[in-house]
Amino acid sequence: MSPSVPTMRLDRLLANLGYGSRKEVQSLIEGGRVILDGEVEDDPSQRLYIKADLTSRMSVSGEPLDPPPGLMVLMLHKPLGVTCSHKETGQLVYSLLPERWRRRDPVISTVGRLDKETSGLLLMTDDGGLLHRIISPKRHVPKRYHVWLDRPMNGDEAERLAAGTLMLEGEEKPLLPVEMETISTTEVRVVLHEGRYHQVRRMFAALGNHVTTLHRDRIGGLDLPADLPAGAFRSLSDAEIAAVLGGSA
Ligand code: URA
Repeated sequence: MSPSVPTMRLDRLLANLGYGSRKEVQSLIEGGRVILDGEVEDDPSQRLYIKADLTSRMSVSGEPLDPPPGLMVLMLHKPLGVTCSHKETGQLVYSLLPERWRRRDPVISTVGRLDKETSGLLLMTDDGGLLHRIISPKRHVPKRYHVWLDRPMNGDEAERLAAGTLMLEGEEKPLLPVEMETISTTEVRVVLHEGRYHQVRRMFAALGNHVTTLHRDRIGGLDLPADLPAGAFRSLSDAEIAAVLGGSA
């Protein structure tokens, strides 16, 4: 085994995944509820390599182990009306995940944010390094939004967005060029290469229009799957994580 793969005691692993306090998980383990590679593993001090395959090799009380700490990467189809925050009032995106996952260490965070009134593809992870690689301004991971507008466009919007000179109110640096595909006079797709606060809504305000509905359907080369309904989530495969960073599926 490569020396770079971390190891952890079984009781600490389960406690870090939120299955209970150290004492509670010790009694789960000693009670024979943990199966590893088809055999009961009843030694809380057993050290294990922390790798993604533990999910398929281990079960706890008859259910597959949750994704190991530091290795969880999810896509969520964010519905309207939920907030990307750990602490604000109202419904939070974390409430859409299993309750146990709120006790994980390291914690799960959203990769960037979507506004409360924006739906679509939201990544979540407990891997801080991956999170920073995706949101790093140096990497310019493109994000695509489907935008519905209040009023018909003038006709010069694509050109003004592509120019890289559009200024948002209260800012001093122009936006990076934005690609725009027209679907109808009041419906477009835009691809952003940076992530400023409320960027899409403020961008169309700067163009004299108003966004009525906003939905993110792609990050890098990863599309929101058509079969993932609003409010649902699933883990990303290694190929999907590579697609996010590489920009192509
Ligand atoms: N731009 C916005 O205005 N809102 C979002 O949620 C994302 C991008």
